[in-house]
Amino acid sequence: MELLHQVMLLCRAGFESECAAEIMQQVSARGFAAYIKTKTNSGYVLMISADGRDTSGLLAQIDFRSLIFARQWFACTAQVIDLPENRRTIPLVSLAEQISAESNSRFADLELCYADTNEGRTLNGFCKVFRPHLLNALKKQDLLNEQSKLRLHLCFSDSCTAWLGISHSGNHAFEPMGIPRLRMPATAPSRSTLKLEEAINWFFSRTEQQRWFKPGMHAVDLGAAPGGWTWQLVRRGLLVTAVDNGPMDATLMATGMVTHRRTDAFTYVPGQRVDWLVCDMAERPLHVSRLIARWFLRRNTKAAIFNLKLPMKKRYHMVVECKQLIDTTLATAGIEHELRLKHLYHDREEVTACLSADTR
Ligand SMILES: C[S@@+](CC[C@H](N)C(=O)[O-])C[C@H]1O[C@@H](n2cnc3c(N)ncnc32)[C@H](O)[C@@H]1O
Repeated sequence: MELLHQVMLLCRAGFESECAAEIMQQVSARGFAAYIKTKTNSGYVLMISADGRDTSGLLAQIDFRSLIFARQWFACTAQVIDLPENRRTIPLVSLAEQISAESNSRFADLELCYADTNEGRTLNGFCKVFRPHLLNALKKQDLLNEQSKLRLHLCFSDSCTAWLGISHSGNHAFEPMGIPRLRMPATAPSRSTLKLEEAINWFFSRTEQQRWFKPGMHAVDLGAAPGGWTWQLVRRGLLVTAVDNGPMDATLMATGMVTHRRTDAFTYVPGQRVDWLVCDMAERPLHVSRLIARWFLRRNTKAAIFNLKLPMKKRYHMVVECKQLIDTTLATAGIEHELRLKHLYHDREEVTACLSADTR
């Protein structure tokens, strides 16, 4: 049995089966035999190698950003139990030394985590206090090196029980536990604004954002009221047509950058091609997917961010079906495109999609 024969994946509590289905699809496509260990609402999934093989090489083959439901991941050891209180660092550093020797590498960084559940969150204070102690102990054993290509992860299920493991630098979530800390902007009309902000930050690097969201660009927001998503676009200098029968926020309208169209989002067609389509409507996901595909077939937009609500039982199946619908529709029309999906931290029963295409 190899030391790192498991993979820990963190996800939103309640989405363990989607996270499991997705990783199993990825690893079985690579001929890797594995099984899943998880509990409903635990906020994590363990993928275990069926024949005790090492999983760290496998992680290097999969692009973390291609996973929809995993918030963070790392290849890990079996659970370390009965960590002695006050001397927890001793067995952990010893295990880290073994991992370092086997992988022939030191560690660039250390991330401590726990499941994002009510029970898990009680470990937040403990992790904050314990991290500097462990960092110090790792440093003393010369196990840290900023230039290293591996990161060390430690996930606690209680203060004496944890999984230790590694991810490859650059192929993991950058925020601890994959949870971005966004502040609710005081003047934004709704909390939904955080969903679009997180989506933009997830799908586009800071440099890409400057190219994709330029002042003076035009956007359409379908299902815009009261205006949280429109607010994010206006903040970046875009001119927005907000389509919704409901009322838009008065302060947002006073910016002069928003045109409100009280009409049905499913029949609205823009007068000219826009740079962005965004859509946040509580409608059936296949219905929304067809709507988005139509916008691209008619060359009405260059890019779109939209969400797919998932109130049904077979959520993973539905996401795959929506993705296939859009991919097939655009491919059949000869439209080169990129469709990315993510279950964002601010998404509840939904995933967010970003579609861009060459629609000249
Ligand atoms: C979740 S809210 C949107 C919130 C908005 N993104 C924000 O950040 O403030 C969904 C909106 O979609 C609108 N909506 C639903 N179906 C629609 C349709 N067929 N046409 C236009 N608007 C629609 C609703 O009126 C509602 O205001």
